[in-house]
Amino acid sequence: MITARLIGTLALIAAATQLAAAPTPPPATGGANNGPAPAPMKLTPAPAPVKRTVEPDAQFAPVKKPALRPQPLFRPAMPRMNPAKPLFGDPLPGLTTAQLELFVDGKVDFEKSEDVEGGLGPIFNESSCVACHSSGATGGASPRNVTRFGRVTSAGFDGLDALGGSLLQDQAILPDAIELVPLEANLVVKRNSTPVFGLGLMEAIPDAAIIANVRKQPVDGVKGKVNMITDVVSGQTRVGRFGWKAQQTSVLAFAADAYANEMGVTNRFFPTENAPNGDAEKLAKSDFVLDPEDAPATGLADFEKVANFMKFLAPPPGVKLTPTAAAGQQLFMAAGCALCHVPSMQTGPSKDPAFDRKEVRLFSDLLLHDMGSLGDGIVQAQAGPREMRTAPLWGLRVSAPYLHDGRATTLDAAIAAHDGEAKVSRDRYLKLTPAQKKQLSEFLLSI
Ligand code: HEC
Ligand code: HEC
Repeated sequence: MITARLIGTLALIAAATQLAAAPTPPPATGGANNGPAPAPMKLTPAPAPVKRTVEPDAQFAPVKKPALRPQPLFRPAMPRMNPAKPLFGDPLPGLTTAQLELFVDGKVDFEKSEDVEGGLGPIFNESSCVACHSSGATGGASPRNVTRFGRVTSAGFDGLDALGGSLLQDQAILPDAIELVPLEANLVVKRNSTPVFGLGLMEAIPDAAIIANVRKQPVDGVKGKVNMITDVVSGQTRVGRFGWKAQQTSVLAFAADAYANEMGVTNRFFPTENAPNGDAEKLAKSDFVLDPEDAPATGLADFEKVANFMKFLAPPPGVKLTPTAAAGQQLFMAAGCALCHVPSMQTGPSKDPAFDRKEVRLFSDLLLHDMGSLGDGIVQAQAGPREMRTAPLWGLRVSAPYLHDGRATTLDAAIAAHDGEAKVSRDRYLKLTPAQKKQLSEFLLSI
């Protein structure tokens, strides 16, 4: 999909003095199905005196420039919170002034739109984090899905890495670089964006507390398993807890990954650009910026700032239970939902008061469960095709649509789609009267 944003991006390239000053470039090709190519035609920077190499086309590869990543001049006002009336998007209570400053600085970057000179693309999904994380407040979920593809054979799941999988980047800074789902793919699924509220607390839950949720003997068919992940940042192997498949274990790793894979902004943990469908030549012709792009000589990289913002972001504020919601809570327990949607866990001891033995009311065991027909067919680390992470239920009232592919517009539809280990619990739900279902739903919308 080529959007108005792309046209804007192209105009930006044209406007960039450095590029405009380059010798006349070869005309951009392949814009036929994207309307008239924007003038002036300085889309592909010219070949500098490049030596002719084995690849004849490689002469059109642009000379790469260092990323231009301007820093904000001012820090926005510090957030004003009312402890009696917490809102979505508030920072955690009890942060130091220094932490609050990091929160505010990181929020700027979370909301900032990337541009080509700063390293956006060549292929990407959106140009800011907030484009996909905004419902309720900056950091929330959104109806924007991303696409994952792969090939399923008798040998198992193949993420088609060499063809640009398994995550599709559905936009490009140049029409020629656009990535498409390859014909080899026989599995194409949507992934719904998840909220990032309360991630610092989730990160601070000790591995042992999550492992303790695994049952030796299944109860109502519920067992659960952990996804052990070697963290790209720390190098340590830890219980995965972020993403629909619990495929990441640290907020920092997720931020670095999202910069590279959702926006095409490389960094020291993800230093290599994604080639469109794995095509190195297409990449060479559309990549204008030296890697790693988000790598300032001094100070924090943007992905580190954004990680601070997410770490210090408070969990969704719960609302006081009405009598109807309280009745719904009883039904939630009776139906066995809490076998997976564990109402609360605790962070470990920490020198940092904001994270020291705090209750985390996330309504998840952070384990993978075999969800039968609700599984998405994708394999990520030890998460098998049918295994999904118990979705935290906090903040449900602003996070629709629901489920990993966003297929459910109502809570009722989301619950009815449960299968596999959740079948017994789902069947109990299906037997509730309409009035009881309403009570349960009111409870879920209060969490
Ligand atoms: C094009 C949409 C899109 C953009 C842009 C995007 N995200 Fe996401 N984000 C998603 C989706 C979809 C998921 C769920 C991914 C999964 O589990 O496969 C997600 C999940 C996450 C999670 C995991 C939350 C959890 O608890 O599971 C974090 C953290 C995150 N994103 C951070 C970021 C940051 C930081 C940025 C900007 C650098 C960003 N995202 C940009 C779509 C996006
Ligand atoms: C076996 C564990 C298990 C049980 C039992 C279970 N769930 Fe879930 N639940 C999950 C998993 C895993 C997901 C994520 C599924 C997906 O989208 O792939 C989920 C997702 C959800 C969602 C959607 C959340 C979102 O953000 O999209 C809701 C709502 C929900 N469950 C409510 C319930 C209720 C109510 C019950 C009891 C009737 C229940 N669940 C029982 C594991 C369970």
